[in-house]
Amino acid sequence: MNVAVVGATGAVGETILRVLEERDLPIARLGTFASRDRRAAVRFRGDLLDVRATTHEALRGFDVVFFAGGEDASEQYAPALVERGSIVIDNSATFRMRDGVPLIVPDVNAAALQAEHRLFPVANCTAIVLCTALRPIRDVAGLRGVRVATYQAASGAGRAGLDEFLAGERAVAAGDADPEPSVFARPLARNVLPEVGSFDGTGWSSEERKICDETRKLLGLPQLAIGATAVRVPVRTAHSEAVFLETVRATNVAELAAAFEHAPGIVFHRRGIVTPRDVEGTDDVHVARLRAALRQAQDDKAQDDKAQTEFALWCVGDQLRRGAATNAVQILELLLSKGYVAG
Ligand SMILES: NC(=O)c1ccc[n+]([C@@H]2O[C@H](COP(=O)([O-])OP(=O)(O)OC[C@H]3O[C@@H](n4cnc5c(N)ncnc54)[C@H](OP(=O)(O)O)[C@@H]3O)[C@@H](O)[C@H]2O)c1
Repeated sequence: MNVAVVGATGAVGETILRVLEERDLPIARLGTFASRDRRAAVRFRGDLLDVRATTHEALRGFDVVFFAGGEDASEQYAPALVERGSIVIDNSATFRMRDGVPLIVPDVNAAALQAEHRLFPVANCTAIVLCTALRPIRDVAGLRGVRVATYQAASGAGRAGLDEFLAGERAVAAGDADPEPSVFARPLARNVLPEVGSFDGTGWSSEERKICDETRKLLGLPQLAIGATAVRVPVRTAHSEAVFLETVRATNVAELAAAFEHAPGIVFHRRGIVTPRDVEGTDDVHVARLRAALRQAQDDKAQDDKAQTEFALWCVGDQLRRGAATNAVQILELLLSKGYVAG
């Protein structure tokens, strides 16, 4: 199988190379591409590989092309590749909400994949973490509503976002003036920014819209009531989310906890907390602090046992791996396992 990675020098592209290597995919030829030529710029299976400028011609002859190069590269190259019969697995938002295009998180909705599909957008990283955590609840008790506040890491804004955050941290630690931010709206070090993406005329951010729209599509719940506030926090890698949810059927914490114990792609913490630094570099979504969401005026210690519909939880996942690269590679593994791509 001949595989190309467009955006191989970026935060997600570099992680795709690492995950392909770790999971030992049957790759005969690997092509690595970015916006311009660079010698010995990325590492794969112990070798330093040249990176080539992306062109239509350079992408010929690859069975599978991963895109981690932003909206422009995907829009420019993906349609012609699909036309020629290549499989495209695209981390940008370009095609995610198009009718007839599947949006697949293998641990959530693998059944949505059909033999005729060639183009596979990878969902928004925050939506992937959220939907992996919500799937067991949807399956056990149905979902009527979701409210989520996110705590998103600096590397979610790519290599430039991470570099800006780290430079800011160094300046603060040295007592220097904050460097002028260019990726983020304000300095991120020792701060939190309630702005991820760009605001539209209604006050919603583009990230908040993606979380809501893609969650409905991934969970197959077009009528789901869902709201989000997306916040950037001074964390290197891994997104966290505080979730309040309403089930359709009344249930209790014990029944939902049992569902989490057996759910794919989830590590469930019955007690204690889990943080972004705990999960950096890992592939699972961690769920903790599952509880009944609304406390009555009197402190009723038995309320977790009562059947009810309102719950809260905390979930965390490495957004470069779980929310992007690992999900992308798992889509390819699914295609290989079904025989839709020859290894
Ligand atoms: N960061 C995350 O946590 C995350 C999570 C999920 C999805 N995503 C999505 O994944 C994509 C990549 O994000 P990232 O965070 O990895 O960004 P990044 O660190 O800024 O890397 C971008 C990569 O794309 C390349 N590139 C830029 N323009 C290109 C073009 N016109 N043609 C070919 N290559 C081009 C860059 O090459 P040069 O080095 O030559 O500039 C670089 O390799 C984006 O669509 C992003 O929305 C990111």
